[in-house]
Amino acid sequence: MVDLTEHTDPRGKLTVVEPGKEIDFEIRRAYYIHHVPENAERGAHGHRRLRQLIVAVHGSFDVVVDDGFATGRFRLDNPSRGLYVGPMVWRDMVNFAPGTVGLWLVSEPYDESEYYRDYDEYLKDAKAIA
Ligand code: TYD
Repeated sequence: MVDLTEHTDPRGKLTVVEPGKEIDFEIRRAYYIHHVPENAERGAHGHRRLRQLIVAVHGSFDVVVDDGFATGRFRLDNPSRGLYVGPMVWRDMVNFAPGTVGLWLVSEPYDESEYYRDYDEYLKDAKAIA
């Protein structure tokens, strides 16, 4: 989990993510998810190279991560705290609260060939590089 830089004054809060400060990769793409239906699950993939910071800018959800050896579950519910996820990690996003908006700041342009969408293929490669 990454604590982001928060600026608070009587007008509210402003949160900053800057490469070289809160994260150690250049941001080459950003996207956000919203209008997630109740009980919907997203993710179910891994990345070969891509690095990312995930922030629940509004609402909350859980990210379940798996590196081929162990799993972890992280609750994202604070717009000033993100989850860094590196390469070769399988992830699922679950348990979205109504109205949630999740922001992804990522290190690569979109490239479907860089994804693992098949868990068994991911697991074979994750075990091979360990
Ligand atoms: P998907 O990877 O299934 O989303 P999630 O990781 O939240 O489960 O992506 C949903 C669709 O959006 C899929 O058709 C691919 C497309 N997409 C892009 O075209 N560009 C992007 O940058 C991303 C992240 C997804």
